[in-house]
Amino acid sequence: MEPFSLQKAFTLIEPGPVLLMTTASGMKRDVMTLTWHMVVDFSPRFAISTGPWNFSWRLLKAGGTCVLAVPPADWIRKVIAVGMISGAETDKFARFDLETEQGRYAPPLLTGCIGCIECRVLRFFEEGIVLLQGEQAWLNPQKADSPRIHAVGDGRFVTDGAAADYRSLMAEKLPEGV
Ligand SMILES: Cc1cc2nc3c(=O)[nH]c(=O)nc-3n(C[C@H](O)[C@H](O)[C@H](O)COP(=O)(O)O)c2cc1C
Repeated sequence: MEPFSLQKAFTLIEPGPVLLMTTASGMKRDVMTLTWHMVVDFSPRFAISTGPWNFSWRLLKAGGTCVLAVPPADWIRKVIAVGMISGAETDKFARFDLETEQGRYAPPLLTGCIGCIECRVLRFFEEGIVLLQGEQAWLNPQKADSPRIHAVGDGRFVTDGAAADYRSLMAEKLPEGV
């Protein structure tokens, strides 16, 4: 992974891809699949929805940081499998052969992903919504153009199709440097 512009980090999440979220606290670390998320502002801030039924929640509460990682489309089976078991008693990194590297915070980056954003928790809302501040972004240059996965929500998934550039039509809405 190479450092990526924090200004552009929201573009990793804005298309709504299925994410893998890593967390860590003390000697424990975990990874879960996450599709309930959104960009909240360009700074960048994100909201995710999860809860105490996940082991990741405990690590997020204890550690206060996480990594949002964007997996490539050819990880689809792995991404589903990660979201089907708990890391409370299983090391999912070993079980699913997930190569990691260290960033700024304790939760690891996932080397084979398209990009990663290291985030700090700003606030836990009672309803299970967590507000995150992106602090450091990373890009995997070998995977940067890989298609991403999008969940329909009923067990079906779609992957990215053709991209089209309409920047000229919305230039004044785009922040400086994006
Ligand atoms: C495709 C997919 C999407 C998911 N999205 C979410 C989500 O947005 N929020 C959530 O809390 N759980 C979501 N899950 C469920 C968690 O990934 C699952 O409970 C996971 O096993 C939690 O692992 P943990 O106990 O190690 O934290 C999703 C699972 C799948 C397969």
